[in-house]
Amino acid sequence: MSLVRRTVAPVVRPVIRRLDRHLEARMAGRDRRLAETRERAERTESALREELADTRKELRELRDRVHGLDLLLGREGRRVHRQPTVRQIGALARDVAEVTGARGADARREIVQAYRTLVEVENRGVGRIAGGTGNILGKLATVPLLDPPNGEVLEIGTLFGLFAGCLARQVVRAGLPYHLTIVDPISPVQLQEGRRLKHDLSGTPISEDVVRANLHYAGVQPERLRLVRGYSTAPEVRAALAGGGFGVIVVDGDHSAEGVAADLAWVEELAAPGAVVVLDDYGDPKWPGVREAGEAHLARPGTRLSLVGQVTTSAFLRAG
Ligand SMILES: C[S@@+](CC[C@H](N)C(=O)[O-])C[C@H]1O[C@@H](n2cnc3c(N)ncnc32)[C@H](O)[C@@H]1O
Repeated sequence: MSLVRRTVAPVVRPVIRRLDRHLEARMAGRDRRLAETRERAERTESALREELADTRKELRELRDRVHGLDLLLGREGRRVHRQPTVRQIGALARDVAEVTGARGADARREIVQAYRTLVEVENRGVGRIAGGTGNILGKLATVPLLDPPNGEVLEIGTLFGLFAGCLARQVVRAGLPYHLTIVDPISPVQLQEGRRLKHDLSGTPISEDVVRANLHYAGVQPERLRLVRGYSTAPEVRAALAGGGFGVIVVDGDHSAEGVAADLAWVEELAAPGAVVVLDDYGDPKWPGVREAGEAHLARPGTRLSLVGQVTTSAFLRAG
């Protein structure tokens, strides 16, 4: 053994032993921490798996429950569903408030009540109400808030009669005794712009019996109903309604520009002073003739009608 090794070894050996012990202790600590971390991760994983299973179960149950709601309010048998979102109702309430001058809370209350009426009347009846949910609610909520001068209601174009049933109820809600007049040829399939549209997607053929049954289901009393079968342009229809005096008029028949122009010209004769006139599907890209004829009519010198505002795709006019 060299002199250096003999002298250095006894000094270095204890240091190396201390170093070894230190390293072993650190390794043992690391292993313990690793085992603890693994255990924690396993516990978290199993908790997450349990939570996932619970969430899946809840989702399945929720889907089943929503399915029931979908059967009631879904789009099958009509063009659109009757489940407006929170945002849609909020936006509608703002629009109705702006057009009617009502407080936001009052507009919202009117919309919610109109919604209950829409769901109840449509689900009780056969067929469907035409149009999107926002559009229907806009019409039903805005009319009473515009304070029509009387409860004489005229609807030109009724389809299944269900919207008219809802509107009669809204007029009662405004505190007015209603009387409903409906003008429609009541063709077994809907007529538009001289064309016969294909069978109605509700599967129900349109007939006078169906319209009368729907109005009965909606609670319209027979003595408060006048059903005038025919086109709004037919002389015998015009003669039957001579005298007018209507406080609320809904123009929702022939959607061509010529058809709307003819109806608005007739409305000039039929509207009571202060009457509320609803021009449906105004600004709807599917029916460009409605806006075209509406704008042209409102620009005519001497017209009694002026634009109050628009909610979704309905223009609201007031007769002077
Ligand atoms: C869009 S639907 C009416 C929808 C109904 N107001 C509703 O909200 O459920 C149009 C209706 O107008 C009818 N119609 C078409 N041309 C007409 C006219 N010149 N006079 C009266 N009704 C007409 C159609 O046969 C159809 O029943």
